[in-house]
Amino acid sequence: MNISVPRRATAAAALAALALAGLTGTSASASPAAAAAVTPPDISLANVKQHLADLQSIATANGGNRAHGRTGYKASIDFVKAKLDAAGYTTTLQQFSYNGATGYNLIADWPGGDPNQVIMSGSHLDSVTAGPGINDNGSGSAAILETALAVSRAQLQPTKHLRFGWWGAEELGLVGSKYYVNNLPSTERSKISGYLNFDMIGSPNPGYFVYDDDPTIEQTFKTYFAGLGIPTEIETEGDGRSDHAPFKNVGIPVGGLFSGADYVKTAAQAQKWGGTSGQAFDRCYHASCDTTANINDTALDRNADAIAYAVWNLSSGTTTPPTGTVFENTADVAVPDNGAAVTSSVTVSGVAGNAPSTLKVGVDIVHTWIGDLVVDLIAPDGSVYNLSNRAGGSADNINQTYTVDASTEVANGVWKLRVQDKASADTGYINGFKLTFP
Ligand code: TRP
Ligand code: ZN
Ligand code: CA
Repeated sequence: MNISVPRRATAAAALAALALAGLTGTSASASPAAAAAVTPPDISLANVKQHLADLQSIATANGGNRAHGRTGYKASIDFVKAKLDAAGYTTTLQQFSYNGATGYNLIADWPGGDPNQVIMSGSHLDSVTAGPGINDNGSGSAAILETALAVSRAQLQPTKHLRFGWWGAEELGLVGSKYYVNNLPSTERSKISGYLNFDMIGSPNPGYFVYDDDPTIEQTFKTYFAGLGIPTEIETEGDGRSDHAPFKNVGIPVGGLFSGADYVKTAAQAQKWGGTSGQAFDRCYHASCDTTANINDTALDRNADAIAYAVWNLSSGTTTPPTGTVFENTADVAVPDNGAAVTSSVTVSGVAGNAPSTLKVGVDIVHTWIGDLVVDLIAPDGSVYNLSNRAGGSADNINQTYTVDASTEVANGVWKLRVQDKASADTGYINGFKLTFP
C-alpha cells in the first residue's frame, strides 16, 4: 500500500492509532470503528496531596498563611508556576494592586486547540490570614494543578483550547478573578466556552455539590458522579461566593464543584454521603486549623477525578499515540542505479508537539551493494538526518532500525526516507520505511 498506516500490535490500539491518524474507516487491515473514545485519566490522589503538603510547607515557612499581600501568597504562585512551566504550559503572571499590596493571578495556557473555544478551569490560591488555607482553597488549586500536569503527561490534543487560572485575593472579594475578567477584551471573553470553578473540594465532612449553572457543564459533573453511584446536590451556599461569579456576570457559561464550607450537614445528607450530621462540612473554614489534616481524602480524590473527566470531555481531546505506535509505508520504490535520489513517505498525524529524541526509524532496503547508498531521513520541514553514507561495502541489504534525536522537529507532517545510489552496477529498492514513536 502506498499510504502511511499507523499500526500496532493489539487490535484495539490499532484502531485507536488509526483514529489518531484520521484514518479510521480506510482500507487498512483493522476494521472500521467509531472514533476512539478519549479516556480521562485517574488523577493521582497522592500527587494532589503532595501539592497540598507543599502549600502547607509554604504557609508554615511564611507566618502560617498564604494570604493576599503576604509572602506566603507569592511563594504559592511561584510554586504552581514552576510546575506548569516545566510541563510545557505558557504561563502569564498577572499583577494587580489591592489594599496597598500587589496581588497575582497565574494564567496557564496549554498550547494548541481552537483558540476560539476555550475551556478554562480556575481556583483561588489565596488563603485567609487566619490559616494555611488547605481546604480553602489549596484543594481546588492542587486538583487543577494536577489535572493540568496530567494534560501534559498525556500530551492531550484537545479540539478546544485549555486554560487554567489561579486567582489572587478571592478572600477579599473575588478581587483577582474580577480583575482578570474586567481586563479581558470582549473578543477574548467571547472565546471562553466554559469556566469551571473549584473552591473547597476536600472538605473534612464532605458533601457533593455541583453548581447549578450552565447545563452542559453541570450535566458533565453529574454524569461522572452518577457513574460512581454518588448522589449530588445543587450548590446552594451562595451563587456569588467564588470566582465563577465574574465570569457568569459577563455571560460566560460556568460550572463547578464544592464540598461544603460552614453550613451544617443535615441528617439526610449524612445518610447519603456519610460523615457527621449537625456538624459543618468544614469546621475549620477560614480558621487556623485548615491544615493538611482538614481534608477528606475520598472527597478530594473523587472531585479531582471529576475535574479531569470534565476537562477531557468538555474539550473533546485526543491523546498522543500509545507507546509503540508505528507509521509505516511498505510500498516498494525502485532505486535507480547511480541515479537520482528517490523517497518513500509516511504521514504522521495526531501527535502533539515535537517528535521524540528517540524516534525509531525502520529502514528496509533490498540492494546488492549497500556501499553505493546514501540514506537520509527528512523531517516535515526538510531537515536532513543522515542514516547511512555509503557504508557497509559490498554487503547486501539494509534492514535496520536507527534511533534519531528528532526532538527539534514537529512530529506531524510528511516524513521521508531518501535513498540515492551513487555507484554503478548494483541496484535495488526501498522495501519499507517506518517511524515508531517510543
Ligand atoms: N471561598 C468561598 C468563601 O470564602 C468558599 C465558599 C463558600 C464557596 N460558599 C461557597 C465557594 C459556594 C463556592 C460556592 O466564601
Ligand atoms: Zn475559597
Ligand atoms: Ca549501484
